[in-house]
Amino acid sequence: MSEQTWKTAITDIAGGQIRVRGYDIADLMEHLSFADVVYLILRGELPDNQQRRMMEAMLVSSIDHGPTPPSNLAARTIFSGGNSLNAAVAAGVMTIGDSHGGAIEKCAFILQEWTAKDGTPEELAKELVVEYKEKKKRMPGYGHRIHKRDPRTIKLLEIAERIGYKGRIIELAVAIQDELEKTSGRNLPLNVDGAIAAVISEMGFDWRLGKGFFIISRVPGLVAHVFEEWTREKPMRKMGPLPFEYDGPAPREIS
Ligand SMILES: CC(C)(COP(=O)(O)OP(=O)(O)OC[C@H]1O[C@@H](n2cnc3c(N)ncnc32)[C@H](O)[C@@H]1OP(=O)(O)O)[C@@H](O)C(=O)NCCC(=O)NCCS
Repeated sequence: MSEQTWKTAITDIAGGQIRVRGYDIADLMEHLSFADVVYLILRGELPDNQQRRMMEAMLVSSIDHGPTPPSNLAARTIFSGGNSLNAAVAAGVMTIGDSHGGAIEKCAFILQEWTAKDGTPEELAKELVVEYKEKKKRMPGYGHRIHKRDPRTIKLLEIAERIGYKGRIIELAVAIQDELEKTSGRNLPLNVDGAIAAVISEMGFDWRLGKGFFIISRVPGLVAHVFEEWTREKPMRKMGPLPFEYDGPAPREIS
C-alpha cells in the first residue's frame, strides 16, 4: 500500500461493484429496507429485529412537523429567493441546532454520562435537574412549543417498551421529565429529540451521531416543503414575518 492511501471502513468500490460494510449493494437493495441500511452504514453491522423496529420508528418520527420550524422556514425562504432545491434543503439542514433537532446530541451525551453513575434513575434525575437549574441551563430534549406531551415520544417509548428495549437510559429520560415538571411547575415533556436520544443511547449508539439521526429523518420533509414551494407558490412571496417593533437607538448622526 502506498503512503498516499487513506483508509475507510464504510464502502468499498471497484469497477461494477459496490460493497457497503462488506455487503453487495444489490443484495441490500433486494433484501433490506432503507432503515436497515442506515443502521448498517452507521453501525457497521445489520440490525436485529428489535433494532430494525426502533430504527424504522425513529426515522419516521421526525420526518416533518409542519411549515413553522426553523428548518422548513429557512428552506422555503431560500427557495423563494430564487435558489435551487439543493441550496434550500441545505439551508434547512443548517438550522438544526441545540433548540431544533440538534438537542438529540446533547441529550444523548447527558443520558449516557449519567446512567454510568451509581444511583436509581430518580436519584440521578434529581441531582441532574438541580445541577442544570443552578447553572441556569435548559435541559436538552425537554419542552415543546406546541405539545404538552409529544405524540412522537409517546409512540417511541411505547414501541421500545413493547419490544423489550426499555432500560435504565429510557427510565432516566422519563425520570428527568418528571423531576423537571415537579420542580418547575411547568409542562416540560420529553420531546422527540429527547426520546430519540434515549432510544439511540439504549441501542448503544455514540451520542455524536445524534444530529445525524434528525437530519436523516427530516431531509425528506424538507424536500417535500421545497417542492411545494416550487410548484404552489410564487417567487419571493411574503412568507409572513410577524409584525415587529423597533426598540433600538433613536435616529442619530455620526459626529
Ligand atoms: C423547545 C423549546 C425551545 C420550547 O420552548 P417554549 O415552550 O417556547 O418555552 P420558552 O422558551 O418560552 O420557555 C418557557 C420557560 O420554560 C423554561 N424551559 C423551557 N424549556 C426548558 C428546558 N428544556 N429545561 C429547563 N427549562 C426549560 C424556560 O427557561 C422558561 O423559563 P423562564 O420563563 O423562567 O425563563 C424549549 O423547551 C427548549 O429550549 N428546549 C430545549 C431544547 C430542545 O429540546 N429542543 C428540541 C425541541 S423538539
